[in-house]
Order: sequence, then C-alpha cells, then structure tokens
Amino acid sequence: MRMYDVIEKKRDGKELTKEEIHFFIDGYTNQTIPEYQASALLMAIYYQGMTDEELAHLTMEMVQSGEQIDLSAIEGVKVDKHSTGGVGDTTTLIIAPIVASLGVPVAKMSGRGLGHTGGTLDKLEAIPNFSFELSQQTFIELVNKDKLSVIGQTGNIVPADKMLYGLRDVTATVNSIPLIASSIMSKKIASGSDAIVLDVKAGSGAFMKDVHQAKDLARAMVQIGKSVGIDTRAIISSMEQPLGSAIGNALEIKEAIETLQGRGPEDLTELSIELSTQMVLLAHPEYSPEETREQVKEQITNGKALEALRTMIVHQGGNGDIVDDVSLLPQAKYTIDVPADTSGFVTHMEAHEIGTSAMLLGAGRATKDAVIDLAVGVVLHKKVGDRVEKGESIATIYANEKDVQASIDKIKQFTVIKEEKEQTPPLIIDMIQ
Ligand code: URA
Ligand code: CA
Repeated sequence: MRMYDVIEKKRDGKELTKEEIHFFIDGYTNQTIPEYQASALLMAIYYQGMTDEELAHLTMEMVQSGEQIDLSAIEGVKVDKHSTGGVGDTTTLIIAPIVASLGVPVAKMSGRGLGHTGGTLDKLEAIPNFSFELSQQTFIELVNKDKLSVIGQTGNIVPADKMLYGLRDVTATVNSIPLIASSIMSKKIASGSDAIVLDVKAGSGAFMKDVHQAKDLARAMVQIGKSVGIDTRAIISSMEQPLGSAIGNALEIKEAIETLQGRGPEDLTELSIELSTQMVLLAHPEYSPEETREQVKEQITNGKALEALRTMIVHQGGNGDIVDDVSLLPQAKYTIDVPADTSGFVTHMEAHEIGTSAMLLGAGRATKDAVIDLAVGVVLHKKVGDRVEKGESIATIYANEKDVQASIDKIKQFTVIKEEKEQTPPLIIDMIQ
C-alpha cells in the first residue's frame, strides 16, 4: 500500500477501507509515514468528510494505538460523561456524586485543563489533601465500594490522538467534525466505560459556535459509539453565557457543593439533573425517564448526593469537612465588586471573554506550563435576562493581586445591558441518541 494512493482516494471523495485507515494510523504513529503526507490526508478529510464506517474504523485504529483501560473488575454498567468544554462548567463534580448515590458506578478519569479555568483535576486540587494519584487497584476497589472515584488520567491512552492533534493544530484542520469526533470518542473508548453521555456545547463560549455544527458533531459521536457497541447519547446545551455563577477552581468546588445542597445556580442545576438522568438511564434502560429524573432530584433534596461527595473526598485522603464549611477551601486575599455602568436588562454575556477575565486573574492556564491560582476567579451575580440597576454589582472578582483592572474591564465590556429585555435562549437545546 502507498500513502500517495490513500491521499488521492480521499481527495477524490472516495471511501477508505479499514485496511487503508489502519495503514495510515499505524504508519503515522510509527513514523514511517511522514508528516507532510499525514497533513495532506487530514486536509482531504477536512474537505471530503468521512462516512460512518470510515469514522468507526478511524476511531478504533486510534484507540488501538495505545493502552486501553480495563474496568471489567468494576461491577455494573460504567457510564462516563464528557463535555466538549465551555466556561465555568462544574457539572462533573455535581453529576458524579448524584449518579453514584443512585448505585451507578462512576470510575472517572479526569485531566487538567488549558483555558479559562482548570480541568476537573485542577479543581479537585483545591480540596485540602485530596489525592487523585491512586493505584489502579485502589481506584477499582473504591468504585466497587463507594460507586465513585476520580483519578488522574494515567497510561499512554491514544498516542495517535496526541500526534494528530498536534499536526491538526498547525495545518488548520482542527475544526473538522470527523476529526474532532474521532479524537474525543477514541479517548473515551480507551478509558474503558460501557456507555457515554456527551454534553456537546454550542455557542460563543464553545468549540462549536453554532447549533447546527454542534448537532452534527453530536450525531457523529453517537454514531461512532453505536458502531463500536458503546451506548452513547448526547445533550446539546447552550454555552452562550458561562454555566452557573462561579468561574475559578475553589470557587467552582464551592458552587458544586452548593448545587448538591439544592441552592446552586438554576442553569447549572438544570443541566446537572438532565445529564445525571441520562447517565442513570444508560445504566438502567428499564427505568422510566420521568421517575429517574425525580429520583435524581431527590438525591439532592435528601442530601445523599452530597454525602457521596464527602465519602469520595475522605476516601481519597481529603478533608471531607469542606462540604459543611466551604471556608476551608483556598481563599483569595481580595474581593472586588464590578458595578454596572447602566440600568436595564442583561441581554448577553460573552462566555469566552468572561472566562478570560477569570484566566487573567490566574484561574486558568494560558499555556501548558502556567501555574494555576486555585483561590481566584469570578462569581457572577447576574445572568442573561436579569434586571440590573446602575451601580449594582454584576460580579465579584476574587484575586490575590490588587490590580484587577483588566478583568473588570472585560466583565463590563462583555456584559451587555440594554433597556429592553430580550428572550433568553434555552439551556438544553436537544438530545441526540
Ligand atoms: N477536544 C478533543 O479532545 N479533540 C478535538 O479534536 C477537539 C476537542
Ligand atoms: Ca460555574
């Protein structure tokens, strides 16, 4: 087989065989296929797309390029959740204890983040003494016992994705639905879960700026899951404004605790309930959706979800008292309010830019090696649709530096206040299964 012919075939819009896709992934990861040929194929895929069969083959070839985690020692249907990323998304820390408290095992492998705030692992670092460096055996024992454990991603999972992503990044081929779908799904499949709930974000603060693109991506990922026997469904949710109120690591842990106490922000609560419901339904297809949704809400009301979080923290060496006393979390030295310049209604909050206001304080990484300040961030007091009076605080900045003018300016600039109220877009846009 020659790479030239594979490129030419895709360039001309023809379907690649499993053998041709294997040849490409194998050769590229073993460095027998040069980057210029891999680049050309990526560009051909960018323009010609891929059929469902090609996509399933590509994903599985990527999975097989590295280690696959074996979770078969965990009893029950292991359901994983993946969000395509947004601003201030704290859902994992809320959903995982809810689902676990209903007896569905959550064996979560999380990563660090690049962007506005940290990833789930960075956020968990705000919990004093919490450890996510557990052995595989301890991890499995904890999930069997408590139904919940979170560890850092270990092992050499999907090395083909690391290489391809690096190449896509410099060849203008990141934004291709088949390439994104196979990248995300290969990592989820290699992580060993039996079923997957995807939260595909649409909007200015998301990877997919428009709803049609987000739906196409969701369909591609659900189809991959189906093709390889992993039950997958996707919720399309809006990322036009930050999710919840808190953007920052310790601040989001606090927000997750408050949500599990039943007093979290409305949007974050709604999305967490829906994602939890779908996770439980994937583990128990015999349950009724309505009753499951009610049961999920009940786990918040009766405090059992919060207890599941406390148990996980304690069993991973952390201070479980934080669920009763959030002042035990890292605290910022200064709090600065951001007053509204005019009265009216909030009509828009540019999620990406508001997220950047938190990153400028040190809540997130602008580069891979940047160090996160766990205590800092932004808490929004207003959301799209809310009434605001001139001088009223629209947000509070938590900082360890006195000079936060750049963040104040960003929040003011990107929180649009108008005289007339505008219609708020729905949070949950669609579900694809
Ligand atoms: N996230 C991923 O993991 N891969 C992509 O290609 C895009 C977003
Ligand atoms: Ca949040």
